[in-house]
Amino acid sequence: MTIADIQETAEAAVNDYILAQETKDQLRFLTCGSVDDGKSTLIGRLLFDTKLIFEDQLAALERDSKKHGTVGEDIDLALLVDGLEAEREQGITIDVAYRFFATDKRKFIVADTPGHEQYTRNMATGASTADLAVLLVDARNGLMVQTRRHAFIASLLGIRHVVLAINKIDLVGFSQERFEEIRKDFESFANGFDFETLEAIPMSARYGDNVTAKSDKMTWYSGPTLLEHLETVEFGEHALEAPFRFPVQWVNRPNLDFRGYSGTIASGRVTLGEELVVAGPAKTSRVKAIIGPDGEVPEARAGEAVTLTLEDEIDISRGDLLSATAHRPEVADQFAAHLIWMSDEPLLPGRPYMLKIGARTVTATVSEIKHKINVNTFEHMAGKTLELNEIAFCNFALSSAVPFDPYEANRTTGAFILIDRITNATVGAGMVWFALRRASNIHWQALEIDKTARSEKLGQKPAVLWFTGLSGSGKSTIASVVEKKLHVDGRHTYTLDGDNVRHGLNKDLGFTDVDRVENIRRVGEVARLFTDAGLITLVSFISPFRSERRLARDLMGEGEFIEVYVDTPIEDCRKRDPKGLYAKADRGEIKNFTGIDSPYEAPENPEIHIRNIGRDPEEVAEEIIAYLREHGFLAGFAEDGEGI
Ligand code: ADX
Repeated sequence: MTIADIQETAEAAVNDYILAQETKDQLRFLTCGSVDDGKSTLIGRLLFDTKLIFEDQLAALERDSKKHGTVGEDIDLALLVDGLEAEREQGITIDVAYRFFATDKRKFIVADTPGHEQYTRNMATGASTADLAVLLVDARNGLMVQTRRHAFIASLLGIRHVVLAINKIDLVGFSQERFEEIRKDFESFANGFDFETLEAIPMSARYGDNVTAKSDKMTWYSGPTLLEHLETVEFGEHALEAPFRFPVQWVNRPNLDFRGYSGTIASGRVTLGEELVVAGPAKTSRVKAIIGPDGEVPEARAGEAVTLTLEDEIDISRGDLLSATAHRPEVADQFAAHLIWMSDEPLLPGRPYMLKIGARTVTATVSEIKHKINVNTFEHMAGKTLELNEIAFCNFALSSAVPFDPYEANRTTGAFILIDRITNATVGAGMVWFALRRASNIHWQALEIDKTARSEKLGQKPAVLWFTGLSGSGKSTIASVVEKKLHVDGRHTYTLDGDNVRHGLNKDLGFTDVDRVENIRRVGEVARLFTDAGLITLVSFISPFRSERRLARDLMGEGEFIEVYVDTPIEDCRKRDPKGLYAKADRGEIKNFTGIDSPYEAPENPEIHIRNIGRDPEEVAEEIIAYLREHGFLAGFAEDGEGI
């Protein structure tokens, strides 16, 4: 054999190996359970026993175990996982790390979901791509609220295979009775879930019993070890079987001759020449080229990142969904979905959030919480808000129609996240159930007489002066002087005052956060109609939340919304106390009083900031009028020079 021959044989062997690895099927799973159930130790044990820990890591581990370990002379496998975790825990919204390992039979991807308080969030995120969940239970404690919650989330997220890892069995004397008790407990709990396989395995992750090697301490157990089960469990590749879906991440247009659409295939396959449709506009075209990382290919499938070019020039932008024409997704601007709430701040129906589904982001509100779900009993409960970790079935209203599939049919195009518009944090994860058609036959009626026609007739440019500030800060007093001045000048105005509107339109609302959100949403809509009517509208509401002031701002045309922050220190408001409400609130007779036991979020960039300490309302009103004049709202009128 020549050296070249040897090289060739070696190369062939390497290629064979790589091929074998590539064609081996791949199981994605995640581990979950409550905090000290031994998740890190279990993952460490799997990596350790499948020899995926390299020598240098092992030496470091031995050192660390002596220093920080909690298991005496043994190597603390949890440290391997936890050490990496600490680095990753900082400042990342959704934080799931994936670990890879392989045996002769299969490749594995473990979604490692760190974090303690945010456990549910991480669980929900990791689970959305997993085929199987390993639910850890401490044999001493049995099922905990967390275990139930995670089993429920796993089922909600469409995971069909579950391993109940009854861990720390050594600490209950390898007791078969205890194992059976927990297994039965879980089986009766998970009865209604749609799990295809449910395997209970007694184990000790710390000592390795039944993780990768059969334990000799539990002769009563004849089932598989965890690894055996992971290697052999049969699972369907749902993403491949589902119809073709391709969310366009970006439009690749390096020059005028090339226009490609790049993204990762969410489900199904695509072949050259196949007809695709852009959901929404429903335009179709055929696939001209499929470009993968190594050049053109005739076919591509779920999970692959590709660029597609089409035969025809059709208008496709980022966020569009390319789909198989025979199986089109739904398109709607209202749907019903399960929502897992992940924020310390409660969810408030009516408050706008950003909703990201596929590659599309729109503004959305929860229009109704249909019911909350008790994770222990699955009882449906009524609820006005959602707190951290709560799960509910809700109706959503979106600012524009989006393409999607019901989550049951497609776990990628049916899942979404909610993002807080102010902090940009991910606050919820959702699974769409069905489109709501109820408003779909209502179209915006274009009227021939429009805002321009009306405001021309009135000879003015409409605007909203939005006064915000504490109760007793002087909003209404100032607004009233401003309106008088505008009126004298011949302007057409209307003032919406909190106390007054709450006598009629908003009579049904109180002062909880939820009610205040609705209060502002309604008055924002009314202000929009008045602006459309051509009026200069003065709104005087505490409007304590940034989010809803922003919602109101977004309802108006560019430049029409003028936020006036009446900034009066609470001590001064209290001194004035025109309605005696501060005194009452201090005596505990009024609850949720702004500035006392309900928050006020000051504007960050108001158009007009009035520092209202010892100022004359006349003079403040002049300042506001000056702003209107400077910004062209008072032009073209009062030609006789009498005007303001
Ligand atoms: S908002 O917060 O929802 O914008 P809005 O401006 O409509 O409040 O109403 C505030 C007025 O309601 C106050 O000026 C005060 O007269 C009265 N009021 C009664 N209870 C409260 C309360 N708990 N907090 C604030 N204002 C209250």
